[in-house]
Amino acid sequence: MMCSRKIKISVMLFLVLIPIFTALPHNHNLSKRSNFFDLECKGIFNKTMFFRLDRICEDCYQLFRETSIHRLCKKDCFDSKWFGECLKVLLIPPEEITNLQHFLRVVNGSPITFNMSPVQT
Ligand SMILES: *[C@@H]1O[C@H](CO)[C@@H](O)[C@H](O)[C@H]1NC(C)=O
Ligand SMILES: *[C@@H]1O[C@H](CO)[C@@H](O)[C@H](O)[C@H]1NC(C)=O
Repeated sequence: MMCSRKIKISVMLFLVLIPIFTALPHNHNLSKRSNFFDLECKGIFNKTMFFRLDRICEDCYQLFRETSIHRLCKKDCFDSKWFGECLKVLLIPPEEITNLQHFLRVVNGSPITFNMSPVQT
């Protein structure tokens, strides 16, 4: 009696969980490092610089577990306001932001369109 009830419960759980899992966005490919060309970066590919920028978006994604954050952060080769927002929430120190701005200019290849400046005075 107990046993069949348990089976019923697990079957029900199973039936409920399957649609939930299949409905979830497919994240398996997220961990894959994004590619310089995929992001349409027009600057110089410097691995150190690129992976540092990529890392910001990775960390930002880890914080929110939100797929759209991950995508938006890398949009236009990191030149989106989301990248700036990620720097803010990750509490990146101003010296590091200055570094990252330099990295971004090199990797992105075009004048950055948003203001990443940490000081708003
Ligand atoms: C991940 O993406 C690649 C193409 O970018 C695809 O070939 C592969 O099947 C995907 N893997 C999974 C687990 O979805
Ligand atoms: C890439 O950038 C790093 C950090 O600024 C620098 O030390 C390194 O020499 C650069 N590498 C190339 C190949 O330009």
